[in-house]
Amino acid sequence: MAFLRNAWYVAAWSNEVSDNLLTRKILGEQVLLYRDGAGELVATTNVCPHRFAPLNMGRVVDGAIECPYHGLRFDASGQCVYNPDGDGAVPVNARLKTYPVEERLGAAWIWMGDPAKIDLAMIPDFEFLDDPAYHAVTGLIHVRANYRLITDNLMDQAHLHMVHNTTLACDMVRRATTQLVRESDGTIWANRLGEAGETPAIFQMMWQANRGPIEGDFDHWVESGWKAPAFVRNNTGVAPHGRPREEGLETKNAHLLTPETETTTHYFWAISRTFDLNNPELDANIRIGTEHAFINEDEVILHGVQEMMDGQDFWSLRPALMQADVGAVQLRRALDKRITAEQAEASASDETSSARRSAEPVA
Ligand code: FES
Ligand SMILES: [Fe+2]
Repeated sequence: MAFLRNAWYVAAWSNEVSDNLLTRKILGEQVLLYRDGAGELVATTNVCPHRFAPLNMGRVVDGAIECPYHGLRFDASGQCVYNPDGDGAVPVNARLKTYPVEERLGAAWIWMGDPAKIDLAMIPDFEFLDDPAYHAVTGLIHVRANYRLITDNLMDQAHLHMVHNTTLACDMVRRATTQLVRESDGTIWANRLGEAGETPAIFQMMWQANRGPIEGDFDHWVESGWKAPAFVRNNTGVAPHGRPREEGLETKNAHLLTPETETTTHYFWAISRTFDLNNPELDANIRIGTEHAFINEDEVILHGVQEMMDGQDFWSLRPALMQADVGAVQLRRALDKRITAEQAEASASDETSSARRSAEPVA
């Protein structure tokens, strides 16, 4: 499977996880999330090691997960601590795989790779997600497409005028070209600036709610910055034509993609703003507009692309690339490099340990 494993992924928004048992498949693995008695986040496999029952059908008893099938109980470290049957002996190997977790930016992050390689600096620095100067509307969408098709889409401003013709489409952005910017921390930006035109529908709605009637021409910027493995930060805004951005309205958006399988993705999104912080009606309209754009517009086309590609490698299909693909192409190459390096390192260390095993004297 072509996933970067030594990386953080969002397992859930923090407010999704309680002492109820939440299950989510991540990178093809069945994961269980809950909070222990102290409110600390715990992530383990959702598969009971006895007869493979789904643990999320069980319950938490004294901070331990009780399997719904025969009642084995496992503590937060994954160790089986109780067997209600017969002599009560705890079976050998009755231990759950656990995953390192971290709560930041309003989300529960999970490390899917080698625990020895954990690096908290790899959680993206999307500061607007916990800055009190911002207010975020957040959501989660299930997408029937590989996560890399979604990052391509988020870096690609050429689809806006086609796919999003009722929400994000903007003629001045259509006529602009994409500027590529690479930062020293590995962030790859694909930026467009549309000048002197009409704002897209979603910004018309926000401008009218916040500033009143639309008058004159506007400029509109759409900037998408990718970080490995699948995080995209958007700065998107409008200002009266020729005026500084500070005189306009901008949202900072987070797109946090967690592969569920090779062909499906958990898409965590947040739209953050510094204006009209306490406006539930605006929140509701942003949610309606965003979900419409992502579910009814992007998801449908991305699922279609997934079906047409039918599991074939992107490069093997020799795509006819457009100028607007410049960001997506760069990030695909950067991620390919990271995944190849990680897989090479893992197979080298497998070979070293099997050579060591075969050199050990047989007792
Ligand atoms: S399957 Fe979980 S205790 Fe038997
Ligand atoms: Fe889109």
